Amino acid sequence: MSKIRAAITGVGGYVPDYILTNQELEKMVETNDEWITTRTGIKERRILKGENQGVSVMGIAAVHDMLAKTKTDPKDIDAIIFATVTPDMTFPATANIVASTIGATNAFSFDMGAACSGFVYALATGSSFIQSGVYKKVIVIGGDKMSAIVDYTDRTTCIIFGDGAGCVLLEPTTEDVGVMDWELRSDGSGEQFLHMKAGGSRNPASIETIAKREHFVYQAGSAVFKFAVTNMADISAQVAERNHLNAGNITWLAPHQANKRIIDATANRVGISEDKVMMNIERYGNTTAGTIPLLLWDYEKKLKKGDNILMAAFGGGFTWGAVYVKWAYNGQ
Ligand code: UT7
Repeated sequence: MSKIRAAITGVGGYVPDYILTNQELEKMVETNDEWITTRTGIKERRILKGENQGVSVMGIAAVHDMLAKTKTDPKDIDAIIFATVTPDMTFPATANIVASTIGATNAFSFDMGAACSGFVYALATGSSFIQSGVYKKVIVIGGDKMSAIVDYTDRTTCIIFGDGAGCVLLEPTTEDVGVMDWELRSDGSGEQFLHMKAGGSRNPASIETIAKREHFVYQAGSAVFKFAVTNMADISAQVAERNHLNAGNITWLAPHQANKRIIDATANRVGISEDKVMMNIERYGNTTAGTIPLLLWDYEKKLKKGDNILMAAFGGGFTWGAVYVKWAYNGQ
């Protein structure tokens, strides 16, 4: 019997209208466009404005986009996984809110928290559901409303992050396409370098935690940078090598969009030239779990059946991973 794989059969995305430029940030904190551009590659990012607007708003819009393009009936969806570190609420899961809003009444749904690696973790999980043969249609969403947890007085973090969400539909295939292989890793000792101190069960919200600004992202930037460069490059090379992927047959590298210098280092390690590297960091910044599905959304029209795509991510936890996908349809 042929092996069942999970094929990505559709992509959706959403970014909010509001554009926060480097020039606007120059008026908020001690920074400048030149520093941000040369150190990160970011020119602008999107911000979700308005009362009562959680990450679900962007996830729902991304899923509606994908359902319309693939002409999928939401009642046929078996499972929805939402990778995010900025859920609407601690509970219920944001995936449940998405499911009920889009009418996926036959689906089970849950959130997954693996920070910037959230999408690759969720893609591997959704693919395993499909490979089991039990589930036929799984939606994997990656998205974050980072503006909800970013301190706009901290120039070391507020220039990096943005808001956005993307999603993919997974369906079974016995063709030689789909999610072919992955490697996922984590190291809890990374907690000290990248975390949000309060708001969880260890340090519930209090007047003190608010006064100490502990409900915002803390990042020791240069330490995280070093781990990210090494681990994202190593894991990409590992997945590439065992699948006989190289500069000649990788069609696209789809790297997490945290910093253009980390992206360049990963591409160099796998020997991929810049024209084969998906990139939209200059327009959206780092949308945490949203970066890789938003790349697929932006590049969908250029993708062809059989394209070899290597996804790679590194993030809080620490978490990191790489996924090899053979694209299943022609984008046009
Ligand atoms: O996505 C999840 C994982 N996260 C990442 O992968 C992010 C990894 N880290 C990074 O991307 C980079 O470390 C940052 C972009 C956050 C910072 O870049 P860096 O080249 O590591 O800068 P740095 O922290 O070493 O700071 C260099 C200098 C410092 O000044 P001094 O001490 O040399 O005088 C900072 O105070 O740049 C200063 N600086 C800034 N200057 C202007 C820090 N932030 C800014 C800023 N504008 N926004």
